[in-house]
Amino acid sequence: MVGKMPECDCSSDLILKNKQAFHGRLLSWYRNHRRELPWRQSPSLYKTVVSEFMLQQTQVETVISYFNRWLCVLPDFQTLARAKESQVLKQWEGLGYYSRARFLHRLARQIVQLKEIPKDAQSWQRFPGVGPYLSAAITSICFGTPVAVVDGNVIRVLSRLLAIVTTFKDGASAARALRPLAQILIDVHRAGDYNQAMMELGATVCLRQKPLCGFCPIRGYCQAYKSGIPQAYPRFSKRKTARVSIQRLWLIHKGALLLQRQDKTARRLAEIYELPLLEKLPFQVADERLLAVRKRSISNQRIEEEIYAVHLTQENILRIPSSANLHWVSLNRLKQITLSGPHRRWIAELLAYGAPHRWLSTH
Ligand code: ADE
Repeated sequence: MVGKMPECDCSSDLILKNKQAFHGRLLSWYRNHRRELPWRQSPSLYKTVVSEFMLQQTQVETVISYFNRWLCVLPDFQTLARAKESQVLKQWEGLGYYSRARFLHRLARQIVQLKEIPKDAQSWQRFPGVGPYLSAAITSICFGTPVAVVDGNVIRVLSRLLAIVTTFKDGASAARALRPLAQILIDVHRAGDYNQAMMELGATVCLRQKPLCGFCPIRGYCQAYKSGIPQAYPRFSKRKTARVSIQRLWLIHKGALLLQRQDKTARRLAEIYELPLLEKLPFQVADERLLAVRKRSISNQRIEEEIYAVHLTQENILRIPSSANLHWVSLNRLKQITLSGPHRRWIAELLAYGAPHRWLSTH
């Protein structure tokens, strides 16, 4: 029996007594049904590291095109290690959570210095940005190290297998609670395939709202399937959503758009350009016009962003500081800089509508 376990309606005995058969069913399903993903074709340590960094917090469908472009420009650890940070961020543009790109860049610079690459999960956790998930995924897939991966998909599969009734605060606490169980169930001889099979099952069959239990190779072991309400697991406490309202500025002068760029030390979006916050202007504006409203969600925040065009006198234009993270970027140069994904979309939309000229010409 599992020692430190979350509450569940039943035990893991059924699986543990039939571990070989359980592994057999899961792995033969994986061999026959796994998706053809670019990092699974002639796999390498580099492809695995890049794909797993990208896959944290991002869906497979989104990652595929980024991964393919990345491999064309930055095909190996050596090229990545030599690349400038701006080039690395540009390749990451639109994937979000940009610290992942910086960590990956730093990791490549460390890897190329090593005589021998470590194969154990603990050593990998000493690399920048590598925590329990990445170290388990990378070392199990590349070296067969028998360490279980626990990501959102695996949390769902395990919670359903054992009908775990614990209400988890969030994904991180669920992962911590379920790691001992995951470690007991892993196929230590085929750790990489086992981990990928569990993630794959969660991503393609054991779906959050509409699980496809009829296609599940391990439903015979699944207590949630037996209960008839598999979608009731896992249980998470409801998080309050916070509503946030942000005012942004749309200002074009002499063919350049005013943008803000967080400095290197910023926790989020360091060195990434966005439309400036209206409050960044060093003076009050009275003559503003709402151009567009855009909504998005970041974790539990529902953010509404209002984009205002402002009409400024020449004198006020000159008062806009060229420091303080505000930069005039020529419209011709927008392609070269790294904008956050939503902002690149909004700017393209507003330019397509003729936003600057149409409104300013009425003044
Ligand atoms: N999600 C993240 N990494 C994965 C992998 N290697 N296989 C399937 N799904 C994943």
